[in-house]
Amino acid sequence: VGAALAGLLPSAGVRAGASGVPSVLRVGTDATYPPFEFVEGDEFKGFDMDLIREIGRRLGVPVVIQNVAWDGLIPGLNNGNYDVIISAMTILEERAAVVDFSDPYFTAGQVMVVRRGETAIQRPEDLRGRVVAVQINTTGQFATEQIAGVRRIDKYDTTPLAVQAVMQRSADAAVIDLAVAVQLAREFPGQVQVVGEPFTEEYYGIAVRKGRPELVQAINRALAEIKADGTYDRLYATWIRT
Ligand code: ARG
Repeated sequence: VGAALAGLLPSAGVRAGASGVPSVLRVGTDATYPPFEFVEGDEFKGFDMDLIREIGRRLGVPVVIQNVAWDGLIPGLNNGNYDVIISAMTILEERAAVVDFSDPYFTAGQVMVVRRGETAIQRPEDLRGRVVAVQINTTGQFATEQIAGVRRIDKYDTTPLAVQAVMQRSADAAVIDLAVAVQLAREFPGQVQVVGEPFTEEYYGIAVRKGRPELVQAINRALAEIKADGTYDRLYATWIRT
């Protein structure tokens, strides 16, 4: 890249050191996803938020978090708006073609959320002829697309909006990640319930722009420490209910 052009690159001025770790770790997340990332007051809270702050601590750099719409997260990363994404993002081949992922840090799977008292929907096959609400471009959408005979898939910008569509009867079920389903069912007591066992197996990873292998390695080392010394279990116990 020529010098003139280099000056225009969005990440100019936030130079990574020899270790590949930037002086400030800028993080993008869609903070509409409890218990992983959500906003309370003026604070970012949740499992992912504590995890990335812990990673920053171990890398010795401050962490700055930006709230970004889910569908814009990967474009924003590749545009240099931030250094990493942590957003309960499932490691997928299609995504790994455009960004790099850390080692997996969380096991997840899709479940259905239905109105409380609904008995006709127990298994994914029961979604035949039904309207299903999902968050756009999530594994919930992709899993639902694999279910035969679904009448319509309504795509919402956030997962809470998809769950609200179920409560308001514009959809019969929402298909979303297990821990989030459990959390949202608690937040709308008496209105929705989680049914069945997870019907996919997924792993969350932290996404990094391609071409930054030292940053990925530094994150993986921090993750390994966090898992080994009990910090991971503490975060899990703090945030995740099953
Ligand atoms: N795990 C799912 C996926 O990767 C959903 C993640 C949605 N995350 C969020 N913060 N809204 O597609």
